[in-house]
Amino acid sequence: MNRDSVDPRRWLQRWFVPTAMLLLGGCAGPQSTLDPAGQGAEDIARIFWIMVVGATVIWTTVIGLAIYALKLKPGPHHRRRSGFWIIGGGVIAPTVILTGLVIYSLAFLPQLLARPPEGSLQIKVEGLQWWWRVTYLENGEPDFELANEIHLPVGEPVEFLLSSPDVIHSFWIPALGGKVDMIPGRQTRLTLMPTRTGTFRGVCAEYCGSSHALMNFTVVVEEPDEYQAWLEEQRSPARRPAEQLTILGRELFVSSGCGACHSVRGTDANGRIAPDLTHVGSRHKLGADVLPNERASFERWIRHTDDVKPDVLMPEYHSLDAAELTALAAYLESLD
Ligand code: CUA
Repeated sequence: MNRDSVDPRRWLQRWFVPTAMLLLGGCAGPQSTLDPAGQGAEDIARIFWIMVVGATVIWTTVIGLAIYALKLKPGPHHRRRSGFWIIGGGVIAPTVILTGLVIYSLAFLPQLLARPPEGSLQIKVEGLQWWWRVTYLENGEPDFELANEIHLPVGEPVEFLLSSPDVIHSFWIPALGGKVDMIPGRQTRLTLMPTRTGTFRGVCAEYCGSSHALMNFTVVVEEPDEYQAWLEEQRSPARRPAEQLTILGRELFVSSGCGACHSVRGTDANGRIAPDLTHVGSRHKLGADVLPNERASFERWIRHTDDVKPDVLMPEYHSLDAAELTALAAYLESLD
């Protein structure tokens, strides 16, 4: 007989430990509800664990009773005692336990739906096919715009004003809190409160077309002074190109008509259809968290847009030769 198949310790080492590590590995990381970095996510994680404990107790009890009835004491059972188990275990216990769990989880709702105090940070986010337009507001008015990246100061509440001009998207930063749909023709709201610094991942949680899985965003929670420095940088107009290559890149940007769709503050490019590129070089990722932010990615995006993100609105630019493509990519990369 194969020794491995009967030695429980070997079996644990070979199968159980790696499988458990693999499964539990999914509990951590920048996009996990079970690794909370915000008040809402902490509440949701607590509800989840309470539910898991509740479900485990119920499952173990039911399986225990089944084993008792089928294996330990098979055969006929006393009628009145059977009735007690059916009514008690099948009706009363689930009603009491489930009602308790529902009341416990509903008690969190007012807190999750509460508006933040007057004067809190407000950010408008529009979900589009397939990217995120992010507008920081100052006293309710637009301050500056960027795309697919949000920075937040730790320990301060933030209110997101959510909308969509095309189809229904859903705004979700799993590590910070719950998700809220972005519905065409309406504005929905979500308040979050980051409790620790870090870089997290936001996703679209509602199927919204062929590239639904390719619209993600980066959320950076940082100390207030770092956040202020980032705000100042983002408010400022785009850096002027200083090298021959980037100057040529800017000329190509203008002559290729990029400014009809994209904005670069401080230049004539003021398109409103596509992402604002004023500080695109400073972002963590490109194409809504699809490509690393480097020159080769800009080149790939401009040349093979539809391969990177199927059905995207931006056309592929095959008219540029290799040298022109490099210059344009170098200019975009320099916009940090
Ligand atoms: Cu937007 Cu799914």
